[in-house]
Amino acid sequence: MRKHIVAGNWKMNMTFSEADDLVSAIMDKLEQVTLDANTQMIICPPFPYLEMVSDFGDESYFSVGAQNVSDQEGGAYTGEVSAAMLESMELDYCIVGHSERRAYYHETDAIVAAKVKRLLAHYIRPIVCCGEVLEERESNRQFEVVKRQITDGLFHLTAEEFADVIIAYEPVWAIGTGKTATPDQAEEMHAFIRSLIAEHYGQEVADNTSILYGGSCKPSNAKELFAQPDVDGGLIGGASLKADDFVAIAQAF
Ligand code: 13P
Repeated sequence: MRKHIVAGNWKMNMTFSEADDLVSAIMDKLEQVTLDANTQMIICPPFPYLEMVSDFGDESYFSVGAQNVSDQEGGAYTGEVSAAMLESMELDYCIVGHSERRAYYHETDAIVAAKVKRLLAHYIRPIVCCGEVLEERESNRQFEVVKRQITDGLFHLTAEEFADVIIAYEPVWAIGTGKTATPDQAEEMHAFIRSLIAEHYGQEVADNTSILYGGSCKPSNAKELFAQPDVDGGLIGGASLKADDFVAIAQAF
């Protein structure tokens, strides 16, 4: 059975001490609740806090991931962080191709593909984001856009490599806007993504792939979204900055 995953993407928020307080509060909450045994929690803090968050780490509570990685292996790339560095910190996950990186840092599908390859070579599971902008949905091009992102970003992988990939569908019009995709809209796209994977890698690989929903996911809508057959969890932005909300979302399974 594929994993249910609730991952928090903190984005570029919080000071070190605020981050420290937040992980403490998440740990306190997690000690009080029992999550479904198939639910994996992941916290993706900014790079400078990765070690601090990992140090809280009891992997039975949560794993830690980065929010980005360089497409280069190493060397003279000032300001970049490599997959080898993340591996040496024993990180298990890394977000790739978030819409904010595509929009503000000109990340293309080819760059996403290169980053995914680097991560897998360093035994880090990529959480690969896809999703259409409002104008694309309004002109009914969402399937075409997501198909291109998935095909060009991921289908260079062998089936064995692909087995470590997690996908996050994040309609850009739902990110940080308070507007959420309806459970039907989410399910329609998740089922479409799974069908693309099945076509390319076969049904078994598709059935084992966790596909997360992201975009204004919160405790009040998580249950309905996660009840959809092809929605295997969430990639959470704003609500992951509040311990109560983040843990409540994980309890939605
Ligand atoms: P929000 O949950 O704040 O809408 O952000 C979603 C997101 O971008 C997670 O990566």
